[in-house]
Amino acid sequence: MAKRETWATRVGFLVAAIGSAVGLGNLWQFPFKTAGNGGAAFVAFYLIAVLLIGFPAMLAEFVMGRRTHRNAVDAFSEIGHRQWRILGAFAVVTGFWILSYYNVVGGWVLRYIVGSAQGAYFGAPAEYFGAVSAGPEAIAAQFVFLAIVVGIVALGIEDGIEKATKVMVPSIAVLLVFLAVWAFTLDGAGAGYAYFLTPSLDAMVENAGTAIPFAVGQAFFTLSLGMAIMITYSSYLGDDDNLLVDGGTVVVFNTLIGILAGLVVFPILFANNIDPGLGGGASALFIAVASGFGSLPLGNLIGVVFFGVVALAALSSAISLMEVTVAWANDNFDVPRPQLAIGIGVGLFVLGLPSAWDVALLTWFDNIAYSLLLPLSVLMLVLFVGWILAGDAVAELRQGAGELGTFGPIWMWALRLTVPALVFATLALGIQTLFL
Ligand code: PHE
Ligand code: NA
Repeated sequence: MAKRETWATRVGFLVAAIGSAVGLGNLWQFPFKTAGNGGAAFVAFYLIAVLLIGFPAMLAEFVMGRRTHRNAVDAFSEIGHRQWRILGAFAVVTGFWILSYYNVVGGWVLRYIVGSAQGAYFGAPAEYFGAVSAGPEAIAAQFVFLAIVVGIVALGIEDGIEKATKVMVPSIAVLLVFLAVWAFTLDGAGAGYAYFLTPSLDAMVENAGTAIPFAVGQAFFTLSLGMAIMITYSSYLGDDDNLLVDGGTVVVFNTLIGILAGLVVFPILFANNIDPGLGGGASALFIAVASGFGSLPLGNLIGVVFFGVVALAALSSAISLMEVTVAWANDNFDVPRPQLAIGIGVGLFVLGLPSAWDVALLTWFDNIAYSLLLPLSVLMLVLFVGWILAGDAVAELRQGAGELGTFGPIWMWALRLTVPALVFATLALGIQTLFL
């Protein structure tokens, strides 16, 4: 078997992890949920959820990967818990499931870059979205997006993922800042900011029933947890990285990008008197925001840049998820990486067909993942690291991070009790809304 790869540079891992975290969740969910659930008050609440749930769970994935230098399934055997490989397999399957429809959405985004250049959706945005988001056109776009993902992953960690994300992630940040500055000059900027961030405890309390589960669910979805991504990425790390600092950097960047996205989309909506609607989701971006570009000066160019940012964010997330399965195959079969990537790509394409055919099916795939598979996966992993890996996990975290002081026990008890309790509550709610 070939020698296992590692990141070429210290920032390589960090940038790739940020690229994974920054995705559609930041761009189309976070701003709209924030606006609808209490603005800045919700941001504060969301940050607490991320620190309380997301951060400890992310460190749990980091130590699993770096301690074992194995894919998410065999990591469990590597530390002498072969029987728990099922947890890793569950996370890998969850990720595969999610990627199948994430690619479809990635395809829509590519279509919207072209559509912006041509002004194709300027006249009738809702009809355009209907036409490109389902059926043969969506399948073709899915294929193109997936082909790019396969191409990057086929090149490997250093030459593929690391090089690609080192270009993509800074581009996302720079272009979003550019868009936010441009949005600041729009007539609707002030009203947009106010709508986005005006703190309202009333709105938060009133919507607590949906805002809390969202914040909890988002705390791990937004950090790419529960899909074995962070286990896989950290398995290519050397032993002296400071995982605490890396994790903290991912959290900060991920939140800043979500806030920047809000500073872009709401001025666009308010400049055009478009109802921002509540909840966000696909139509918020592809219909509401898109319809704003048509009536703004340089709308074509701004549209291309905007959907270009969305495409880069979706791509850097998709490659992280593809790598999870490819890493497993690469560790287990003596087949060259490109062939493995293509084979897995074919599987993803086929599983994605229903989602590409009909948006209702995509929504179903997403609901299963978001409400059932992801929470279950996170729950099992944090329990494993907290109760079974326990002291070894703390020792692994200390490596590179130095003495942890009281943070060690705090982290352990978070993994053992707080995180499972909160995730379990969301899971119960999810099951209730899905099946009851
Ligand atoms: N962190 C991503 C987001 O916020 C979630 C994700 C990662 C989804 C990788 C799919 C693949 O959008
Ligand atoms: Na994210």
